[in-house]
Amino acid sequence: MTKRIKDILNQENFSKEDLIELMKIDNKEDLDLLFKKAYEIKEKYVGRKVYYRGLIEISNKCIKNCKYCGIRRDNQKVERFSMSKEEIMEAVKWIYENNYASLALQSGERQDEEFVAFIEDLVKTVKEFSNGKLGITLSLGEQSKETYKRWFEAGAHRYLLRIESTNLDIYKHLHPMDNKHLFEVRKRCLEYLREVGYQVGTGVMIGLPNQTEEDLVNDILFYKEMDIDMIGMGPYILHKDTPLGKEWKDIVVSEEKRVELGLKMIAITRILLKDVNIAATTALQGLDPEGREKGLLAGANILMPTATALEHKGKYLLYDNKPGINDSVEKAKEDMDKKVKSIGDEIVYGEWGDSIHFKEKKNKI
Ligand code: 5AD
Ligand code: SF4
Repeated sequence: MTKRIKDILNQENFSKEDLIELMKIDNKEDLDLLFKKAYEIKEKYVGRKVYYRGLIEISNKCIKNCKYCGIRRDNQKVERFSMSKEEIMEAVKWIYENNYASLALQSGERQDEEFVAFIEDLVKTVKEFSNGKLGITLSLGEQSKETYKRWFEAGAHRYLLRIESTNLDIYKHLHPMDNKHLFEVRKRCLEYLREVGYQVGTGVMIGLPNQTEEDLVNDILFYKEMDIDMIGMGPYILHKDTPLGKEWKDIVVSEEKRVELGLKMIAITRILLKDVNIAATTALQGLDPEGREKGLLAGANILMPTATALEHKGKYLLYDNKPGINDSVEKAKEDMDKKVKSIGDEIVYGEWGDSIHFKEKKNKI
């Protein structure tokens, strides 16, 4: 087995079968080879550098009802909150003062004009406050092309919208069968974002019941086909008050396996796509205390420490046992600094850390 894996890893190009074989690796020796190769590629194409995005979870109100997510509309147990502009700006200030060059605004989905205008104004205010220095990533779900344009013109320049799974049967199982949760719409939104001019990020959930190695390889091929600039993906984690948290409780693969699959996804994505930004996500750490460092060693180069005020953190729970909800923003930062340094990566402050893939594309035009 090892010789075959070694041979594949030495190739310049990979067939789908090669990638599936890499995704099926299940012994320590070959896993180490895979991660080592991915780290080499990271070093060569994006450097041993880690960029921070200060994450502000601005509201847990959501019009969608995804069957896996803890803040879905029908979960009555959630105490809903929306941060005021002043509260958000407090967090922005903290991020700015700590020299994170970028922030990410995330929330449940809303499409009403009040929300759209609130975000537009907020983005402008952040830009003004920081003299244009803070890069802004949005992660605010499906919107019209018009809305994406308004937010872009206000000053946001990156957008994250996960495709969740490119296997249509799985996608349908993850979402209610109404016309508000359509794969085609999600995909079209990614196209709108590209057309408007954003750096576009997407990703999937990993380790879902019935998801095969081939499905996961197809997800990576989708990133390639859609010319994606940034990837944020992580293991699926049960949430007890959701339909799938109940249905899948006894059939989901072990947490260890989901972490391993998550790391393989990062490594194979790095090996295939080379110069994109890849985040080591909170969900990875949710299942393994060392998940984020392992993610960096498997090829990730982005971390998103939360800068959400303690008061609200405990209400933004997409899944059970979310790590760090009792930590202050200072503690979260300290922990993360230590971890990154411990593996020998450099934390880059004061630079946006744009996707090199996106920049190279622009140079070609
Ligand atoms: N487990 C893992 N990831 C989840 N997300 C939502 N719920 C869960 C869960 N239970 C992820 C989805 C979504 C992002 C905001 O969080 O991929 O796009
Ligand atoms: Fe809302 Fe996003 Fe959760 Fe779906 S995954 S219910 S859109 S917050």
